[in-house]
Amino acid sequence: MTQQTTAIDLIYQPVREKLAQVDNRLRDLTTQGHPSIVGLLGHVAERAGKRLRPTLALLASGFHDGGGELPVTMAAAVELLHVAALVHDDTVDNATVRRGAATVSSLWGDGMAVLVGDYLFAAAAILVCDTENLRVMRRFAQTVKELSTGELMERLGAYKWDHSMEDYKERIHNKTASLFRAAAESGAIVSGASEETVGALDSYGYNLGMAFQIVDDILDYGGTEEEVGKPVGHDLLEGTLTLPGMLLIERFPKDNPIVNMFQGRDVEDNRLRALEMARNSGVIDDAYDIAREFTDAAVNDIRDLPDIPERRSLLELASYVLERRS
Ligand code: FPP
Ligand code: MG
Repeated sequence: MTQQTTAIDLIYQPVREKLAQVDNRLRDLTTQGHPSIVGLLGHVAERAGKRLRPTLALLASGFHDGGGELPVTMAAAVELLHVAALVHDDTVDNATVRRGAATVSSLWGDGMAVLVGDYLFAAAAILVCDTENLRVMRRFAQTVKELSTGELMERLGAYKWDHSMEDYKERIHNKTASLFRAAAESGAIVSGASEETVGALDSYGYNLGMAFQIVDDILDYGGTEEEVGKPVGHDLLEGTLTLPGMLLIERFPKDNPIVNMFQGRDVEDNRLRALEMARNSGVIDDAYDIAREFTDAAVNDIRDLPDIPERRSLLELASYVLERRS
């Protein structure tokens, strides 16, 4: 067992039983669909990810003992929305591999993938309605808007090399941190936590999500396909400029391989040169420093919450997000 597996196991500890209930809910949803689509849904459901977002929702619900079944319902909704967004994202990104398996779009085509994503998104929305909590319904709708905004910002900014740090942060806030934030905030709300606790967890979710996406962007430069479960170096291929690339352009503005490739010159050679330069120039370390600022802020957000196992898992989760290789 690797060190990382141990860390993530410890994080799950306080919510292990509830997480199993979330898995059951997801399995029911994917096996009880119309017979003609059960195979399609099964393909998505079989490849469970790390379930960080439902874990976050459940941990956030642990600071108050109310809510009954609702935290599990909310956590299942959060994971379904995440999976729906990934099915759509892989379609937009022309990705062929996700979680070590072929993507829905590569197996059945883009049209089918859009429909499978829509189905999962609708299933998530039904679960949120089951909470009968208008505040989390609004947060859910807002999150879908933010996810779509982030994805649109990414597409509209493709092959541009003059993104500001503010643009990048706004993009990853929408694309990723919004759902982490929604998971933490909604988990806390449905459990009946105080406004102070909801606010602390909301901010923690935002900061954790920002760090998570920065590390995701770093792994696209520095990880291996075997570790990450999807091809690396893919962002540049799609014209997506992320933090390591931005730092590389800032540090080496002359004859920069990313600028060259985005201008259509020797695309594959320049892409490989960019990955190599990023690994050997210290920009990966600089990007990690920025990710660490966010995890430090996340840790600070929950400093006044009671010292219960859930809080300890949240602290561990902040370290895990920085150290993860997949
Ligand atoms: C992954 O980014 C993508 C997201 C985190 C969000 C994608 C959101 C949408 C497609 C909108 C969803 C809308 C509905 C209605 C469900 P990435 O490409 O950087 O990560 P990756 O490397 O894992 O693909
Ligand atoms: Mg993608």
